[in-house]
Amino acid sequence: TTHKVGYLVGSLSAKSINRTLATALTRLAPSTLEFQEIPIRDLPLYNHDFDADYPPEGRALKDAIASVDAILFVTPEYNRSIPGALKNAIDWASRPWGTNSFTHKPSAVIGTSPGKIGTAVAQQSLRSVLSFCNSPQMNAPEAYIQFTPGLFGDDGEVTDSTTEKFLSDFMTDFADFIGRVLAALPQER
Ligand code: FNR
Repeated sequence: TTHKVGYLVGSLSAKSINRTLATALTRLAPSTLEFQEIPIRDLPLYNHDFDADYPPEGRALKDAIASVDAILFVTPEYNRSIPGALKNAIDWASRPWGTNSFTHKPSAVIGTSPGKIGTAVAQQSLRSVLSFCNSPQMNAPEAYIQFTPGLFGDDGEVTDSTTEKFLSDFMTDFADFIGRVLAALPQER
């Protein structure tokens, strides 16, 4: 069975190392997963006045999440938490009240930073948010990727074989997790 994965990159930077990581992950993933990026760049800052008449950017985000089987978050760490742009996107997708897009939507989190702990604190913060949003999360493996110059090529090829195997196993585990979660869900969701 093929499953669709939408990935959100938590960085808006044109040179984002996390987008490079996302590209690497899509290359290494099992062929049963199909990927599309779910863009977060054009979302205004959310407030609940929008709920009465959701703007096209907010509807596009919710439609994109509805159209995939699972979500992969690839995010940097900003000041030991998740970037505001990513939190804003999650807030948009979680509303209007009663239409939370993450309910029963399996997810995984991963990220890279030049620092030694490789976005570990941001990922814990993101996991709290996703718990509240009722997304079944892959608990293990965790993946904290320290970005070093040359680790990834321009097209997302991984130059270090240990890292390549680790990332490839991570995606295989995610594919298995998605299958288990979807199989366990009621038909109507
Ligand atoms: C950072 N960076 C950073 N790194 C980290 O490991 N822990 C942190 O808490 C922070 N905090 C932080 C705050 C802000 C505002 C910026 C701009 C940067 C460094 C960060 O990991 C680095 O800039 C990465 O390149 C960001 O990922 P992208 O945007 O390249 O994907």
